[in-house]
Amino acid sequence: IREDYTEVSDYIANYIKERINQFNPSEERPFVLGLPTGSSPIGVYKKMVELYKAGDFSFKHVVTFNMDEYVGLPRDHPESYHSFMWKNLFMHVDIKPENVHILNGNAPDLDEECKKYEADIAAVGGIELFLGGIGPDGHIAFNEPGSSLTSRTRVKTLAYETIIANARFFDGDVNKVPKLALTVGVATVMDAREVVVIITGAHKSIALAKCIEEGVNHMWTVSSIQLHPKGLIVCDEDSTLEL
Ligand code: GLP
Repeated sequence: IREDYTEVSDYIANYIKERINQFNPSEERPFVLGLPTGSSPIGVYKKMVELYKAGDFSFKHVVTFNMDEYVGLPRDHPESYHSFMWKNLFMHVDIKPENVHILNGNAPDLDEECKKYEADIAAVGGIELFLGGIGPDGHIAFNEPGSSLTSRTRVKTLAYETIIANARFFDGDVNKVPKLALTVGVATVMDAREVVVIITGAHKSIALAKCIEEGVNHMWTVSSIQLHPKGLIVCDEDSTLEL
């Protein structure tokens, strides 16, 4: 538990930097990092860019896999997760474009795209550290309430609550929010050798309580972190209201 959003962000950015430096990645043995979008990780990315610019670490041998992407939104749409990642992180650091993996929500065969994503993750030896955020309903990536805890990368219909929550990015208009997304599954995230989750704000306090103080269950999908041998939740004071 850290004081506020800034402290949470700084903690996580430093934590990831340490992990990458300890791992000492190389061309042959890259560090594979899973990444989220949303407002939660913006502070982490900002701090990571700062640390990168200070020469504290490099993305030269980092391979990334993003959690999810909307279906049907053009890649260069300002709200696509592709645009988000380049704007907030990738364009500021020395990552090689070929090391960036983001699901293609415009692929002609979406199921094939999801299968390929899982195969690409396996091909690099799995994910070392998956960073995630959660929705107020406890979803991780777009694994909405009711998602199987053994789910893999697939097409998912967004919950109405998520569409409402994300309308703020689409002129506040629910009709402009895509209704489908591609997302890694709960099992894809939990397969990572380490899982780190950012939870901030009072609006996420019920989710935090459900996820760590109640049983593991598919209605609050991030609760699956309880079964992970190396799971870390970094949260702020506001989000602990219900604990
Ligand atoms: C979306 C994303 C999730 C993210 C969630 C919370 O649903 N698919 O990965 O965790 O939003 O967003 P925010 O961080 O803006 O609260």
